[in-house]
Amino acid sequence: AQTEKDLLYKIHEVANTYFQEILWDDHEGRSIGLSYFKERELRDDIIKKFQLGYSPEKKNAFTAYALEKGYNKEILEKSGLSIFPENTPSGVDRFRERVIFPIHSFSGRVLGFGARILKNNVKTAKYLNSPETEIYHKSNVLYGLNQSKQAISRKNGCLLVEGYMDVISLHMSGIENVVASSGTSLTTEQIKLIKRLTENVTILFDGDNAGIKASFRSIDMLLTEGMNIRVLLFPDGDDPDSFARKHPQEYVEKYIENEAMDFIDFKAEILLRDVGNDPIKKAEAIRDIVKSVSFVQNALKREVYLKEVSNKFGLSEQSLFNELDVQKQITQ
Ligand code: GTP
Ligand code: MN
Ligand code: MN
Ligand code: MN
Ligand code: MN
Repeated sequence: AQTEKDLLYKIHEVANTYFQEILWDDHEGRSIGLSYFKERELRDDIIKKFQLGYSPEKKNAFTAYALEKGYNKEILEKSGLSIFPENTPSGVDRFRERVIFPIHSFSGRVLGFGARILKNNVKTAKYLNSPETEIYHKSNVLYGLNQSKQAISRKNGCLLVEGYMDVISLHMSGIENVVASSGTSLTTEQIKLIKRLTENVTILFDGDNAGIKASFRSIDMLLTEGMNIRVLLFPDGDDPDSFARKHPQEYVEKYIENEAMDFIDFKAEILLRDVGNDPIKKAEAIRDIVKSVSFVQNALKREVYLKEVSNKFGLSEQSLFNELDVQKQITQ
């Protein structure tokens, strides 16, 4: 028998095909959606590889199409693709006049969608995503994992970026071992997905404040799961997408290779930026770094990192060990 889950997978497949057909074959889709991707300099093969699409402006374009195909209101509503407000029996599409990024499972099934507005105006959210459904749990999914899993295994390393376009642009540059947590802060489940393929992660977040905050959270999560981390900060204003479009593949690869730091150097660089000679602020920065070290599960690795902190700041290992014990009691 067909379960509700089967039906949800099915309707996402139907929607995914629909949004792509609109993008490539429909006048509005081509002149607005495809033009948008061309303006962002995406090649056709990449647009197809990531199955990008477009949802029309018309209020119920997809809903009408799906109802016509025999899907009922209940399942459309459960999928998150349609809403049926009172007195609106024809329904309303969740995604209207947006370019569409399908979100795939590890094995390649469509679980949900991200959808971006075409103009950066402040009134509406830039990205709208599928809600949690019976098949889409955003904390268990990494964008791009399906397209990147082979390269992650082959290179024994995974690049972690913030956004859909970062994943896509890096692929277009030939750098294919990359995933995004897409708007949620990194979760344990997401890290476990990566860990099936590699223990080595390089964080490539935006150089803005949001990116730095997110990278700090991710560092502690990754250390807790026993991952090896390197961190790269892009120049303020750049993200992996804009950076990859400005420079050739080889340059981007070298840049990542050469500029990525271990988490101690990274946190030190950020935290000591505005400290000057203030000893209290400096001590706070060191405590923050030691707190991250306290998340390292392996005792030997923990000691190695602590030695690095000790050398870096010219502090005795003993006082750092004492601080580590304090932090471990707090974080456990
Ligand atoms: P572009 O402007 O298309 O290049 O997007 P970006 O990925 O560079 O956006 P940004 O750095 O602002 O955000 C990173 C990621 O956070 C995005 O790819 C989305 O997954 C998510 N995000 C950004 N804005 C929103 C929003 O308004 N709502 C939600 N739900 N997620 C968002
Ligand atoms: Mn479930
Ligand atoms: Mn950003
Ligand atoms: Mn960004
Ligand atoms: Mn961007």
